[in-house]
Amino acid sequence: MSLKEKINIAKLPKHIAIIMDGNGRWAKQQGEDRIFGHEHGVKSVRACVEAAAEVGVKYLTIYTFSTENWNRPQEEVIAIMQLLVHTISGEVESLHKNGVRLQAIGDLDSLPKDCVEELQMGIERTKDNTRLTLVLALSYSSRWEITNAVQKIAKQIENKTLSANSINEQTINAALCTADMPEPELMIRTSGEHRISNFLLWQLAYAELYFTDKLWPDFGKEELYEAILDYQNRERRFGKTSEQLIS
Ligand code: FPP
Repeated sequence: MSLKEKINIAKLPKHIAIIMDGNGRWAKQQGEDRIFGHEHGVKSVRACVEAAAEVGVKYLTIYTFSTENWNRPQEEVIAIMQLLVHTISGEVESLHKNGVRLQAIGDLDSLPKDCVEELQMGIERTKDNTRLTLVLALSYSSRWEITNAVQKIAKQIENKTLSANSINEQTINAALCTADMPEPELMIRTSGEHRISNFLLWQLAYAELYFTDKLWPDFGKEELYEAILDYQNRERRFGKTSEQLIS
């Protein structure tokens, strides 16, 4: 029985979030420069999108470029932005044909103009697709997002459309970039690092965390299936006891 066949469709995580990490180290192992690793990383993104769509996952969020990544050497930042433009323009038709809707979260205004334009065209082209939503987190960090959310809520209080006492979890959810998305139930990070790195801090409150030593360019369909199977073998208690879950 293949890994894919072992997956219980009734217990699929609806939303998987991924921190793809290890492109640079992978490239170094091959004696190549870092951008070579990012180029190969794109193949892993494609494999995970295909695998997620095939098994029926509804949302896949990929930490593509963090707010902190702007501090990388200028030539690497430029190369990643070019890779993004090139990848989005090259993949949109295939995403569309396969029923994938493209979305993006983050400080998109800080991205180069050609990147924003390509992204907006992709989002527009695929907006009616329902099989899988692929969310690219771009120039994203959770603290940036939460700060923004607090500002939005404060403005509602300022213009008296909201009272401070009525703020609840829904108010905060609605002010986040992920307002219309289900929370991730599984978060995967590659390359042996055990950190969340400012990624979806509010949304990952109850997510199962899965860490693997595989470097991102070595993470493909089988590795995603393995992560899903690991998730399915865990008991998700949400603060309850095991006995309460059975009854
Ligand atoms: C993490 O590995 C990778 C990045 C910060 C950038 C990856 C971006 C892409 C692969 C472009 C993808 C395009 C689309 C459309 C999804 P790292 O550089 O941190 O690796 P290291 O920790 O080994 O140095």
